[in-house]
Amino acid sequence: MKKAFITGITGQDGAYLAKLLLEKGYEVHGGVRRISQPEITRLTSLGIAEDIQLHDFDLLEQNSMFRVIRDVEMDEFYNLAAQSFVGASWELPVYTADADGMAVVRILDTLRTLRPDCRFYQASTSEMFGLVQEVPQTETTRLYPRSPYGAAKVYGHYITMNYRESFGLHASSGILFNHESPLRGKEFVTRKITLGLAALARGGNAPVELGNMDARRDWGFAGDYVDGMWRMLQQDVADDYVLATGVTTTIRDFFTFAAEALGMDLDWSGEGETETATDRKTGKLVMKVNPKFYRPAEVDLLIGNPQKAVEKLGWKATVNIRELASMMALSDFDALS
Ligand code: NAP
Ligand code: GDD
Repeated sequence: MKKAFITGITGQDGAYLAKLLLEKGYEVHGGVRRISQPEITRLTSLGIAEDIQLHDFDLLEQNSMFRVIRDVEMDEFYNLAAQSFVGASWELPVYTADADGMAVVRILDTLRTLRPDCRFYQASTSEMFGLVQEVPQTETTRLYPRSPYGAAKVYGHYITMNYRESFGLHASSGILFNHESPLRGKEFVTRKITLGLAALARGGNAPVELGNMDARRDWGFAGDYVDGMWRMLQQDVADDYVLATGVTTTIRDFFTFAAEALGMDLDWSGEGETETATDRKTGKLVMKVNPKFYRPAEVDLLIGNPQKAVEKLGWKATVNIRELASMMALSDFDALS
């Protein structure tokens, strides 16, 4: 039986990956940081909380890495933990650099010392492309991060390549474009939209307040993307791969698809800070712009080319953007019954 260790197991991707690995017969271990009440609701909602062995682990604590890598004797190490909210990274730039950048080398160097044959996955991100230098983005597109989060992840990405090339570690980076699900954190725009619309559909009156409606993202379903992570670690030779759908959508269109799934018929008006959406059926204001959600620097367009993953990993996104918006909106609507 193979053993896997997942940092960030309590997060969206950690929960889906843990479920996938359990289904494949792995013994699954995960790292949780020492807070008063570990948040394991995602593991509980997938029905796997009892099947996982949890260990104290903090990205900022080298000793916790030493202990888990020495004690768990894992075959595969998935580094999914991070300060993952781009918007917060301008307020927490030093913490973000430490958790999302420096922590990666802490893990890699401990693996190199204690367990050099362990396979390693780094959660790299399309946010590294930032002010995009090529459309669509591939594994070789020049990086131009636009946030402290993106800059920290660039370090994690390059140090992963560096340990692969310097010490022969089986270390791969997945450059994953945005992926969402009903388990998505509530501050990310898709979930914020589906939660807000579900509350409105259940009789609420508070419009969803959003920032930049024109940004475009390449959104897929998280369940597909964790399968891609696993596939990367099954290759004979470690490498880096883009996982994406190849389709890009504005925030406004995602909002429309989610609203339609809940039976709304939107009337859009205004632009920029005056943009609003009203449901023609009820007359309710359902969206208004609040500039407080604008970012100091924006990533306007992300669209990935997953061809390498399709050809080498046999990976493919299976959920399109309308299906994703509908899945999330209906899940939030049902949860409010
Ligand atoms: P998420 O839901 O925000 O989960 C983040 C996880 O990291 C949580 O389990 C969190 O634990 C843990 N964590 C945060 N700070 C930590 C610390 N100091 N020590 C130990 N654990 C810590 O993120 P996600 O969406 O699953 O994303 C997984 C990874 O992929 C992240 O590295 C993210 O940056 C990257 N990524 C995500 C996407 C996407 O679209 N989802 C795309 C590209 C890359 P708590 O439960 O204690 O908060
Ligand atoms: N969060 C949020 N809240 N975003 C908003 C809002 C709002 O009210 N209004 C507009 N947006 C815009 C943001 O400005 C951004 O352009 C876009 O919606 C997506 O924002 P997020 O959902 O917060 O995701 P992200 O793209 O910044 O980051 C996510 O994807 C990255 C991969 O590209 C995170 O999961 C990162 O961890 C991940 O690396």
